[in-house]
Amino acid sequence: MVVKICKDYDAMSRVAANIFAAQIITKPGSVLGFATGSTPEGTYKELVKMYKEGLISFKGVTSFNLDEYVGITRSNDQSYYYFMHHHLFDHVDINESNVNIPNTGGNLQDECMDYERRIKAAGGIDLQIVGIGNNGHIGFNEPCDNFVENTNVVELQQRTIEANARFFDSIEDVPTKAVTMGIGTIMRAKKVVLVASGEGKADIIRDIVKGKITPMAPASVLRFHNDVTVIVDRAAASML
Ligand code: PGA
Repeated sequence: MVVKICKDYDAMSRVAANIFAAQIITKPGSVLGFATGSTPEGTYKELVKMYKEGLISFKGVTSFNLDEYVGITRSNDQSYYYFMHHHLFDHVDINESNVNIPNTGGNLQDECMDYERRIKAAGGIDLQIVGIGNNGHIGFNEPCDNFVENTNVVELQQRTIEANARFFDSIEDVPTKAVTMGIGTIMRAKKVVLVASGEGKADIIRDIVKGKITPMAPASVLRFHNDVTVIVDRAAASML
């Protein structure tokens, strides 16, 4: 696990975007794993800028998102489908038929199995970006007794619901369930980038970089991956 400490959020975003740009330039047909949440927004902004400057193209890219809420439609502006189009896909030349975000509108178990099948058929994920929840989750893999291997349906923990309530009119509107890639799905990505910013993430960053490797802090498992870069700003690194 390599930890890069950047001076602020913008610098963190540029470093993460540069890793994505390098991946796309060296392999235009890359399979990229994307994440939602506030943290990667700046990374996507940088990628859109690089695309507009003609530095990168998403024409050959296939994407897989980490997760999606259950119980809201794709057209809802809180869906992760909406988020990804709003922040990235609508502004670059990615082929919509190569965009994969868990479809939570039908049979969830079938979708979980099919999502794994689609990732495998695409040749696996070359580069996956993840944010981190203040409880250590990656994707929506919440702290629990064991690492869940494959894409699965999860009940969101109260701490996650409270953290995500800031995006909704009221906490009652926050979905309580989601479909998420499993820890195994994320660990099978060839390269992983974890981004975190702000003081609120300092203790969990310390725990996952220096603490025990345990499913109670799911991101800690990334220390077993051989190509992980943790990109943090100074505030998130303040307890390292
Ligand atoms: P955030 O979410 O980037 O909005 O802090 C991270 C996460 O919950 O994975």
